[in-house]
Amino acid sequence: MVRLDKFLCDALADTRSQVRAMLRAGRVTVDGTPETDAGRKIDESAAHVCLDGRTIGAPRAHVYLLNKPAGYVTATCDAREKTVMELLPPDLRPMRLRPVGRLDKATEGLLLLTDDGELLHRLISPRNRVPKRYYARHEGTAGAEDVAAFAAGLTLGDGTVCLPAKLEPLGEGESLVTVFEGRYHQVRRMLAARGLRVTYLERRAEGALALGTLARGAVRELREEEISLLLGEE
Ligand code: URA
Repeated sequence: MVRLDKFLCDALADTRSQVRAMLRAGRVTVDGTPETDAGRKIDESAAHVCLDGRTIGAPRAHVYLLNKPAGYVTATCDAREKTVMELLPPDLRPMRLRPVGRLDKATEGLLLLTDDGELLHRLISPRNRVPKRYYARHEGTAGAEDVAAFAAGLTLGDGTVCLPAKLEPLGEGESLVTVFEGRYHQVRRMLAARGLRVTYLERRAEGALALGTLARGAVRELREEEISLLLGEE
C-alpha cells in the first residue's frame, strides 16, 4: 500500500505540491471515483488511478501458475464438473482470473490464469506460437518414423493439418511432445494418429516457463520477470 500523493509523485515525476493541486482540483480518480485525499492509501498493484481521465501507471497484470490435477475441467463454471477455479485459495477467487487456454479434464500440469485480457490474448494467439511441452505415456513405443512425421506436420484423422511439432521418445511407452499451437485434444490426437494412444498426459512447460517443483493442486503467482520471460521479452 502507498499514499496516493506519493504514488502520483513517483508516476508523474511531479512535486508533492503540484500533485496536491491536481487532487484539490478534482482531476484524479481512483477506481473511477474522484479522489481529493492526498493521504489515501492505495494498492498500487491493483488500483486504477487516472489523471484527467488517462490511466497513470497501468495496474500490473496478475498471472498465476496452477499445477492442475486430473479430474477438473478448465472452465470458470460448470454445472456438473469440478472446475480449476475450485482449486484457487479463497483470497484469489474475487479476482476474476481466467484460464489461459485449456487442459483436458484428464490432463495434469501447467495451467496459467490471469486477470489481464490483453495478456491472455497474447498468450493464446496462434500468431505467437508459444511452445508447449508435454510428457505423455502411451500405448506402443515411438520410433524414428513417428519423430519424422511429427516434424513434417501431421495430418489428423479428420484431415486437420498440424504445424510441425517435436516428438522425443523416452523409451517404451513414454515421450515428450512439443507443440506450437493449441488445438482441441491436440497431443492426444497427434499421438493417436501414429497408433500411440495416450494413457497419461502432463503439461510441463509453456514458453520458457516450467512447472518446476510446484505441488499438484498448488498455485503460485508469477513474478514480473517470469511474465516477461513467458512473453519472450527478455
Ligand atoms: N493436448 C491434449 O490432447 N490435451 C490437453 O489437455 C492439452 C493438449
